[in-house]
Amino acid sequence: MKLVFARLSQPVLLVWAADGYHVPMNISPHHPLFARIASDLADHGWSQQNIFLPEALTRELAEDCRQRALAGALTPAATGRGGSVQVREAIRGDAIEWVEPGQGAASDRYLMIMESLRQGLNQALYLGLEDFEGHYACYPPGAYYRRHLDRFNDDDRRSVSTVLYLNSAWLPEDGGQLRLYLPGERTHDVVPTGGALVVFLSAEIPHEVLPARRERLSLTGWFRRRGERPL
Ligand code: OGA
Ligand code: MN
Repeated sequence: MKLVFARLSQPVLLVWAADGYHVPMNISPHHPLFARIASDLADHGWSQQNIFLPEALTRELAEDCRQRALAGALTPAATGRGGSVQVREAIRGDAIEWVEPGQGAASDRYLMIMESLRQGLNQALYLGLEDFEGHYACYPPGAYYRRHLDRFNDDDRRSVSTVLYLNSAWLPEDGGQLRLYLPGERTHDVVPTGGALVVFLSAEIPHEVLPARRERLSLTGWFRRRGERPL
C-alpha cells in the first residue's frame, strides 16, 4: 500500500521539487508559479498550469465534490443575473455548489491558495482584485456550456476567472475540453486533467465547455474587483 501511494504521489512532488517548489501551508504571493500566471495574463490574457495543485489535495477536493454531489448539494446551474436568472440546459448543463469558508478542510486550503494568488496578481498587475467566489461544478455525461463570457452585463466585478480540474486520468476522447477563443480566430483547448488550473481575464476571453463523455468535475471561481456601479 505504501509503495502504491509513493508511486502515485511521486510525479507531482518530483515536478515541484525539481522546480524548487514546495507547497507550504501559507504560500507567498510571490511564489514563482503565481508570478508565471501573472506574466501570462499580462502577455496574452490567459494562463494554463498543468500541475498547479499537488495530487493529494486535488484528490481530496474531488472527493469532497463527489460526496456533495451524491448528497444532492449540487443544483442545476443558472445563467444570467438579477431578474433574468434561468436554468437553461441548452446553454449549460452542469450542477454547482458555491464553496464557503469553513465548509471543509480541502476547500479551505484551496481558498487560502487562491487568497495568495489574489495578492500575487494584485501586486504584479495592479488589478485591484478584492475577493474570490467559487463553486464546485459537475457536468454529467453529455453536458456542455456554450460559448460565453464570464462577465455579466449588469455586474462588471468579475475580473479574473480560474478553473481547477478535479478529474483523474482524463483522455482526449473523453471530450469536455475547455475551448478558449483567442484573438485572430485562434482557439486553445484545455483537457480537464486533475490538478490543472486555467486562469483568464473574465471580460476578454470567450470560452465554452465541449460535451463531456464522462462525469467532469471542477472548482471554478472568479476574482472580483470593486463594482463601478452600486448594485
Ligand atoms: C464557467 C466555465 C469552464 C470549465 O463555469 O463559467 O466557463 O472548463 N467553466 O469548466
Ligand atoms: Mn465561463
